[in-house]
Amino acid sequence: MRILVTGGAGFIGANFVAHLLAQGAERVVVLDALTYAGNLQNLSGVQADPRYRFVKGSILHRALVEDLLESEWLDTVANLAAESHVDRSIKGPDAFIETNITGTLRMLEAARSVVDKRPATERERFRYLQVSTDEVFGTLKSDDPKFSEETPYAPNSPYAASKAGADHLVRAWHETYGLNTLISNCSNNYGPFQFPEKLIPLVIHNALAGKPLPIYGDGKQVRDWLYVGDHCSALRTILEHGAPGETYAVGGNSERTNLDVVGTICELLDKHRPRNAGSYRDQIAFVTDRPGHDRRYAIDAGKIQRDLDWSPAQNFAGGIEATVLWYLDHGDWVDNVTSGAYRDWVAEQYA
Ligand code: NAD
Ligand code: DAU
Repeated sequence: MRILVTGGAGFIGANFVAHLLAQGAERVVVLDALTYAGNLQNLSGVQADPRYRFVKGSILHRALVEDLLESEWLDTVANLAAESHVDRSIKGPDAFIETNITGTLRMLEAARSVVDKRPATERERFRYLQVSTDEVFGTLKSDDPKFSEETPYAPNSPYAASKAGADHLVRAWHETYGLNTLISNCSNNYGPFQFPEKLIPLVIHNALAGKPLPIYGDGKQVRDWLYVGDHCSALRTILEHGAPGETYAVGGNSERTNLDVVGTICELLDKHRPRNAGSYRDQIAFVTDRPGHDRRYAIDAGKIQRDLDWSPAQNFAGGIEATVLWYLDHGDWVDNVTSGAYRDWVAEQYA
């Protein structure tokens, strides 16, 4: 595999790059604009690998993408570059439309124009994977069946709508132009290198800093948590064995309420880094709910399990403990990414 990974300096991207190299990829080129969410430190573990190259740039820059695909003779694209935080999309949707929709358009057009010039066997071998989210399906009631590939799209946040728009473009580029596309719709990830604006790293960070642990609304919203390493193995499996034009729902079969997740983190911190007195649970604070907050996500991952023989290796108990330990061991990383603009975001969001 000679692959272009966009957004490779972000949370899932950096884990995916390390995974691909460990699994024997021939060439891994990362294209990342290094927004607030992208950090070269996330890639320091692969920096010395001669198969790896980093390019700073935007997926909006079609000529740059074409040049990379051609000059590196890449046969695979995984588009992870995105604005990814729902709360930011509510405060300022423009960047989400620009990066997630227009950026995907540019990626598809770059891939199409390069691949169309290749011999038929190379065209057939080419794969474009759009890394999407379960949020495109909207929200579930507590007794609804889980999301699957058959669930109609009903996005509720600007972020989800932008990811849904991108998915529709990807589908159209397959149907209209015959580009060998794949789409994955994955549930909530957690693990090393996740930016501390998202629930799990935010709670770990705030707990250690002695700050409130903000729970939106009643905290009974449900997410289906998947350890990031399992998402990476799913993405590679889809690229290697997925059928062009298909979509795959990916999940951890680990539904938890936000209150459960936060309580578990508190217990783990009480065990591994106890406070002087009392429990981290004492820091839990209920705050104003997120507008349009989806109540429940859950994924039926039966198709990828049956057709591609993928299932998650990590359960939630093991994954969350490994994650808490990783954040305890990587205080420098947290200090770096939470300086500057991060403080402005937290001050505005949790005012
Ligand atoms: P992230 O915010 O941690 O990382 C996004 C990366 O994209 C950053 O490195 C950023 O610099 C880069 N980027 C942003 N705009 C860019 C542009 N115009 N050009 C090039 N690079 C740009 O996000 P993440 O959580 O790692 O998510 C990665 C992808 O997976 C996203 O597409 C997201 O929608 C999808 N996804 C995330 C989850 C999750 O739980 N985090 C679940 C399912 C799907
Ligand atoms: O489902 C996949 C999606 O998961 C991805 O597509 C998104 O990129 C990713 O950000 C994530 O979206 P969520 O909105 O579910 O993740 P977040 O970590 O922001 O929130 C998880 C839940 O916790 C959600 O119900 C909102 C709640 N929450 C979040 C924050 C930041 C709180 O209660 N308090 C908080 O401070």
